[in-house]
Amino acid sequence: MSTGSSVMLGLLPLSSAERTMARHEVVEVELRRSEDGGGWEADDSVIIYNRVPKTASTSFTNIAYDLCSRNRFHVLHINTTKNNPVMSLQDQVRFVRNVTTWREMKPGFYHGHVAYLDFSKYGVKGKPMYINVVRDPIERLVSYYYFLRFGDDYRPGLRRRKQGDKKTFDECVSSGGSDCAPEKLWLQIPFFCGHHSECWNAGSRWALEQAKYNLVNEYLLVGVTEELEDFIMILEAVLPRFFKGATELYRSGKKSHLRKTTEKKPPTKETIAKLQQSDIWKIENEFYEFALEHFQFVRAHAVREKDGELYVLAQSFFYEKIYPKLS
Ligand SMILES: *[C@@H]1O[C@H](CO)[C@@H](O)[C@H](O)[C@H]1NC(C)=O
Ligand SMILES: *[C@@H]1O[C@H](CO)[C@@H](O)[C@H](O)[C@H]1NC(C)=O
Repeated sequence: MSTGSSVMLGLLPLSSAERTMARHEVVEVELRRSEDGGGWEADDSVIIYNRVPKTASTSFTNIAYDLCSRNRFHVLHINTTKNNPVMSLQDQVRFVRNVTTWREMKPGFYHGHVAYLDFSKYGVKGKPMYINVVRDPIERLVSYYYFLRFGDDYRPGLRRRKQGDKKTFDECVSSGGSDCAPEKLWLQIPFFCGHHSECWNAGSRWALEQAKYNLVNEYLLVGVTEELEDFIMILEAVLPRFFKGATELYRSGKKSHLRKTTEKKPPTKETIAKLQQSDIWKIENEFYEFALEHFQFVRAHAVREKDGELYVLAQSFFYEKIYPKLS
């Protein structure tokens, strides 16, 4: 056989096989919602959503609050003093022991602005399932900048730290202000990296690698703000015990669940270019793109498109050749 024909043989059947497979999978798609009619199984799972500020996390958290009675799970906000994402060692131990042993709160969904904690090092049994959402680092910072000055439509009355400061993000960057300095971009990496000193060292490559490692090994699912609906849809398929009905709720209440920072002006090209020159941006952005690619991979294997709509795939494995035979 010539090399030419083996290439032909290798290519053609493969792409047609792929097409057949895609069609086959579309036939088998279904929405999880139609499955298992009621009957809540006992479940002691714990989810921790260690939300990064200004990643649209409130929209998603509100869905958990809307679903918790119906789906019978508990939602708890972890309120840390002054929103400090790093806990003292004694608090880490208290928190980990409390979460793992508090039976009345299981199944439970904990959310808060806390850096990742590795439950396996505190001598307790069982680990929670971590989930999170990341956002384009510059967009996140711009959103946070205006949030501190103008608040949002979620708690409009609340006085914000920098209220009264009328300076735009662009003006801040061009005058070298501290609220828009590249160091302020350093947040998603430390949240995923955790409670090690090096995690908080802005621009650290070690922290980036640790954050990537945790993202793929310790997080069940990490979505992106830009594609929140797909994140919620996959989460519902993966954990229906908690999130049954979440996609529908998100779609129907898109407006009411969206929290908008008021008075937000998009940054100019010059502002963006200036921030992108910093090493801190480069490393934070590398993490964001890593997370995005991972999410898109997960999604590509979890859903199919049909008539412009996404559907989660039905179970596509089964057991056979089970021995010894039951008599
Ligand atoms: C956390 O608790 C403090 C003190 O009770 C309170 O002032 C603050 O509003 C709480 N934070 C949030 C985000 O609810
Ligand atoms: C966990 O902490 C809460 C609040 O401090 C407390 O009420 C609860 O009893 C604790 N649970 C366990 C099992 O320690």
